[in-house]
Parts: sequence; C-alpha cells; structure tokens
Amino acid sequence: MSFYPFFDGSGWSVEEKTAYPDLLEVLTRSKLERILDVGCGNGLFSRAMAARTGATIVGTDRCADALGQCSAHATDDVSFVDPSAVGSQEPFDAAVFSYVDCTQRSAEDRRSLLRSTLSCLRPGSIVAILNPNYPDVIGVDFKSFLAQWAEPGSDIYDGRAVSNRLTDSLGQTGIVQDFAWSSAGTCRLLEELGCRVTITRLTPACSGVSVRTGATVSVSAAYIVVGAIDPSS
Ligand SMILES: C[S@@+](CC[C@H](N)C(=O)[O-])C[C@H]1O[C@@H](n2cnc3c(N)ncnc32)[C@H](O)[C@@H]1O
Repeated sequence: MSFYPFFDGSGWSVEEKTAYPDLLEVLTRSKLERILDVGCGNGLFSRAMAARTGATIVGTDRCADALGQCSAHATDDVSFVDPSAVGSQEPFDAAVFSYVDCTQRSAEDRRSLLRSTLSCLRPGSIVAILNPNYPDVIGVDFKSFLAQWAEPGSDIYDGRAVSNRLTDSLGQTGIVQDFAWSSAGTCRLLEELGCRVTITRLTPACSGVSVRTGATVSVSAAYIVVGAIDPSS
C-alpha cells in the first residue's frame, strides 16, 4: 500500500480517478529536482510529490493554520516555508498550483501570483496548474449559470464564483467557493507571461467511494495545464 492515503493502488477508489494521479505522472516524467508547491494546504500532496518524483519539495501557503498542519509531513525532502521566505530559497525547476489558481478571485490576483512564482524558477522550468474544469462539473449551481448566460465555447464564465460541495477528510460535507477559470484562458495567461504551453489534460467528473472517508462523493472534472519557460531566458 502506498504511504499516500489517497491512492492504495487498488484502482477503485474515487481518489484514484481524480486529477491528482495524472499530475503526479506528469511531474514524474519531467525528472525534476526541486518543486515549489504553491498553496500546499495541509502538505499531504507535497509529501506525495516527493515520494513519486524523488524531487525535493518546498511547500508554501498564505494560511498560517495550513502551514501549521504541514509540519506533520515535513521530512528531509519536504519542507514548508512562509510565502515571505520563498524568494530566499534556491531556485526551483518546477512550480505546482494544485487547486490554488481556482481560489484566486480576480484575473489580476492570479496573474500576480503566477508572475511572482515565475521569478523563483530557473530557465527551462515548468509550471503545472491543476484547476476544476467547471463547464464539465456535476453537482454545482454553476451549470445553471452557464445555461442562462454563457455563449457556447466562450470564456464569459472566467472569474465567476462557483459554489462546490466537498466532503473533507473527516467525512464532513461543506461548501467551498472557487472561481471558474477556463483551461483556454489559463493557457493564454501562461503564454502572456512568457511560457510555452506543453501539456493540457482533462480529467472527467467522477463519483465513487473515498478511501479516506468511506463516503460516496462526487468530484469535479478537472484540467491540468503545463507551461515551460524558455531554457535560454
Ligand atoms: C484548495 S487548497 C489546495 C491545497 C493543496 N494544494 C491540495 O491540492 O490539496 C488551496 C490552498 O491555496 C492557498 N492559497 C491560495 N492563494 C494563495 C496565495 N496567493 N499564496 C499562497 N497560498 C495560497 C490557500 O490558503 C489554500 O491552503
């Protein structure tokens, strides 16, 4: 059994159908040495990245409570620092935003977070963004918003607030608010900031039994966009 409790290798759990395994696979293929995990939350996924990729992981989060929980996951290869200390770290060869970009409330917020993160990366690095793919989401009120307002294929929904129902690791269900950012808009943003988009991947919405909680849960469709920084820049 993998130490990472989301994936026990049986292939049946809802966690193994989500975008997390895909993101780990993309990162592992890139043969990375140092990954900055921006918005690392409780640090569990940081630890999974270290185990799967063999890279050194530095996680950071603007929420002091989240950083406090991370200490349980610190090892020789996984450390956690306050955002104010990221700039003084050795440069990274990847930055990961796992369900973080979707919490940014405005186009300017996401642009400034991405821009400041890019300044911590070496030339030739990659940036991986995992977001919910809201146009394909099940079980949220966003679908009715889209049906009423959006032109098919348009990005009119970019930046709209979305209420999503999630079951947390204690089995409690709550509502979280994300902001819908399309995969096409995310690719454009990366390109505007000087990255070449190398991978876009979609994960369908799914439902099933969680290995963490035993509850039957629905999980949003998601997308992963990876941008590469020019090696000569
Ligand atoms: C939905 S959680 C995702 C946690 C983790 N990456 C995961 O996949 O489980 C989003 C996290 O991003 C953090 N966050 C949001 N905006 C941030 C910012 N500008 N700088 C640092 N952390 C941020 C939040 O505090 C929160 O812990």
